[in-house]
Amino acid sequence: MDIKKVGVLGCGLMGSGIAQVAATAGFDVVVLEQDQKFLDKGFAGIEKSLSRLVERGPEKGGLTAEQKSQAQSRLKGTTNMRDLADCDIVIEAIIENVEEKRKTYAQLDATVKKDAIFATNTSSICVTELMTATKRPERFIGLHFFNPVPMMKLVEVVKTIATADDVYETAIAFGTKLGKVPVRTVDKPGFIVNRLLVPYLLDAIRAYEEGVGSITDIDEAMKLGCGHPMGPLTLLDFVGLDTTYYITHVMYDEFKERRFAAPPLLKRLVLAGWYGRKTGKGFYDYTDPKNPVPGKFV
Ligand code: 3HC
Repeated sequence: MDIKKVGVLGCGLMGSGIAQVAATAGFDVVVLEQDQKFLDKGFAGIEKSLSRLVERGPEKGGLTAEQKSQAQSRLKGTTNMRDLADCDIVIEAIIENVEEKRKTYAQLDATVKKDAIFATNTSSICVTELMTATKRPERFIGLHFFNPVPMMKLVEVVKTIATADDVYETAIAFGTKLGKVPVRTVDKPGFIVNRLLVPYLLDAIRAYEEGVGSITDIDEAMKLGCGHPMGPLTLLDFVGLDTTYYITHVMYDEFKERRFAAPPLLKRLVLAGWYGRKTGKGFYDYTDPKNPVPGKFV
């Protein structure tokens, strides 16, 4: 199957990033949001990210000004689902809520052409459960991107027990055309990355709770000792503590293993509304975003 037109549901952090890389890779892209104000916010983020890539320049993996304007000319926003009717693939990146996603998929199924592929960017929700809201189980997959989407090279391509082989191979080839490296995985909680990453992040919180090190020492240790771009507590703030907390629930619910259970401090930070960078406060305070100040919680 030849993919030419890409639909993206949701213009938040992930949706706008996915739309950006698809347009940069040469696809016509239409992004659906409920309200024009969310489109405006997402498109402003895309403008900023594309400008950073132009500053970087094509020789260092960035873009030319010409490539930026071509990408932007291929990107359209809409608040009307019917504008996605002739898309060849639709990638959903809306709120991580099973009922919201299932409701959206049912509407999408009735609106978008029958041979289009549906993909979810969910990081933790069971892909099979979302698939059953449609009448196209064999054309349903997971495409899990990583934040920040324009910078992270990976996409996990998730096969369910119902996904047709040719659809799966089309999705793998599509991932490569986006400039990403696709890895093959199946519909089990966390896929590959979060299955391994989440217990590590939760252990970093436990280490802090147990006094093994301060917030900055734990982060420095993992950055400098293991060559990670960010320490685990910085990464938690970057991903969002609310998002991580949600993922832990899905994983713990499925496996009932302590390594996937949220430590008490994570729950309390989430209850306090301190979700990390997006709320200005998490393990660090981002009042001055260039100089985050670690909190003191134990
Ligand atoms: N768009 C365009 N360019 C961007 C960008 C964006 N969104 N974000 C960063 N950049 C560029 C910067 O402009 C800079 O370019 P330059 O080298 O030409 O100056 C370059 O990337 C490096 O950025 P910074 O100097 O600001 O900071 P870093 O060197 O720390 O890089 C980072 C930023 C790429 C985010 C890096 O810290 C990193 O890789 N962090 C780890 C991120 C990670 O692990 N993500 C996965 C999270 S898990 C997930 O998403 C799964 C989910 O299910 C939970």
